[in-house]
Amino acid sequence: MDNIRITYTDKDCAHRAEELGSKLGIAAVELENQTDKLPRAGKYVDQYDLHISPCGASLYPRDRKVHGPIQVDFFSGVNNHRRRFGGGNGQAIAKAVGVSGRFYPTVLDMTAGLGGDSFVLASLGCNVKLFERNPVIAYLLADGISRALKVSDHSASLRDIMNRFALTEADSMSQLDNVTGGDDYDVVYLDPMFPHRSKSAKVKKEMQAFQKIVGPDSDSDFLVDRALQLARYRVVIKRPLIAGYLADRKPHYSLSGKNTRFDIFALQKLPS
Ligand SMILES: C[S@@+](CC[C@H](N)C(=O)[O-])C[C@H]1O[C@@H](n2cnc3c(N)ncnc32)[C@H](O)[C@@H]1O
Repeated sequence: MDNIRITYTDKDCAHRAEELGSKLGIAAVELENQTDKLPRAGKYVDQYDLHISPCGASLYPRDRKVHGPIQVDFFSGVNNHRRRFGGGNGQAIAKAVGVSGRFYPTVLDMTAGLGGDSFVLASLGCNVKLFERNPVIAYLLADGISRALKVSDHSASLRDIMNRFALTEADSMSQLDNVTGGDDYDVVYLDPMFPHRSKSAKVKKEMQAFQKIVGPDSDSDFLVDRALQLARYRVVIKRPLIAGYLADRKPHYSLSGKNTRFDIFALQKLPS
């Protein structure tokens, strides 16, 4: 956490920022304005601000020129566009997980990140239990869920979707240590970090920030065995197309898109 500051400009947010700061063991810093005088080039390489404002929590690179802010937004932007025009049950993630008009699996997402994939599944009707262990990422996600629940006062469908989401900030491996498999989760979904080496401008801002804040998830191989114990019907692992199998475990089959592959362990036939 030594590359993160908790910041705020609006005094009404001081309490929230300080509370978060004390949880993470980082002092909250009041900024004169959100752009905070730009630092000397290179001085704040890889440093981030988790900025608390009345509009929610956002992650900014401390050198604001690196990329724009990251905020979890379930009611507009990419998530909403994908919900409305993403292709419904025909999209690869839906086929991988096995959502159909007749079957809405209960999904355990052991590596939630910013919740984008889980949001797609919840939009299609699945109940999703999410675990995220990185406190900065978990905070951004919880903040996005809470803002969506407020907006959803006006939108029954968004409220229904958000009510299918249950987030816990914890390491899924240790949290589920004593849970016996097979009963609670139809499908276990994994999407751990893959160590991208590219510095290309094409790398999305979320991925750039995750590389600096989360790192490579070097223990992710261990998730596979646990997932196989916990899933009733399937384990689905999202991988970049160029990546090998997680833990070198060959799945029963894969569904590939342009950049992404879903590796699928099919443990039982899905209910029809
Ligand atoms: C590539 S991101 C997931 C992106 C996500 N699928 C989405 O749509 O936003 C991987 C995330 O998994 C989290 N993670 C990795 N191992 C975990 C574990 N054992 N328990 C909880 N979270 C974990 C990391 O902190 C990181 O935020």
